[in-house]
Amino acid sequence: MTDIKMKPSAEKRSIPLFIDCDTGVDDAMALLCAAKMKSFDLIGVAAVAGNVALDKTLPNTLNVLALAGRTDVPVYKGAYKPLVRPLVSAPHVHGLNGLGGVELDSSPRKEEPEPAWDALYNAAMEHEDLVLVAVGPLTNVAKAFIKYRELPKRLSKIVIMGGAAVGGNTTPCTEFNIVTDPEAADVVFNSGVPIVMCGLDVTLKAYLTGTELDELAKLGTPQAIFSYQSQQNALRYEMSKGLPGICLHDPAALFFAEDETMFTARKAGIRVETRGSITSGKTVTDLDSDKKMSYREHRVVLDINRDAFRERIFTLMRKYSET
Ligand code: RIB
Ligand code: CA
Repeated sequence: MTDIKMKPSAEKRSIPLFIDCDTGVDDAMALLCAAKMKSFDLIGVAAVAGNVALDKTLPNTLNVLALAGRTDVPVYKGAYKPLVRPLVSAPHVHGLNGLGGVELDSSPRKEEPEPAWDALYNAAMEHEDLVLVAVGPLTNVAKAFIKYRELPKRLSKIVIMGGAAVGGNTTPCTEFNIVTDPEAADVVFNSGVPIVMCGLDVTLKAYLTGTELDELAKLGTPQAIFSYQSQQNALRYEMSKGLPGICLHDPAALFFAEDETMFTARKAGIRVETRGSITSGKTVTDLDSDKKMSYREHRVVLDINRDAFRERIFTLMRKYSET
């Protein structure tokens, strides 16, 4: 009886993922989730100035990855300010240290020598199917695209948390990541490749209520307790604005990169206003206009299955109980 040679199960290979972030409290949540995703191989993370200054977002990124048990992931230092404008940060939301005042143990790992923009390029040259998820101001990504003109086309998918077809959280018509560095966002949206814009249209629906955040804390792991404690200030702030809970903007963008079926998105043209006295930093889309832009390969994410979103958060955070 000859043994039948079974083909090894074609294990779904995990996809290389590079995250660019301005580690504040929702960036931290996204890193804790990404650290446990089997669908992705987290090959690098870059810190950029945004929610707080780079001298905080960089150690925050290192320390959150250490909390996640992922000191194997290299971290890169990015831009300390936007391309041409001064940095206007958001400590009122993320706390002075960017993590809601929670102090984490220092990571044993330090940042890598090469800057974020070179690291992103090197990663894209090494991994032909590299996915980029950018959840902070787009300064690092723009610097990489300016320095390496062939880089945008080397990336298999680019998902950003930023912008809004309608509304704003920083001015009435602008979202924080874009308005912090409109010139950088303009470079990225004009790079000739499709960008997925996970903006406020969808991320305001990607929230956890206070009760659900309490449930998360009951998982009892250091990671769950950190997520709970670090987000209390942001929860209070967002509920004071009439929101139903804490919007997990950055995990929403990460989850879109992992599984689009949780979302609804539409193709559109997207441009960034960089000169308006009132509208500078606004993402202008042609979604509901009869005047369409010439390039319409971007996508605007508009809706989310919040139950599935909440379940994904809990499923990933429960994995810290399993280790
Ligand atoms: O507007 C929300 C976005 O700005 C999130 O990415 C948050 O972390 C801040 O960077
Ligand atoms: Ca962010």
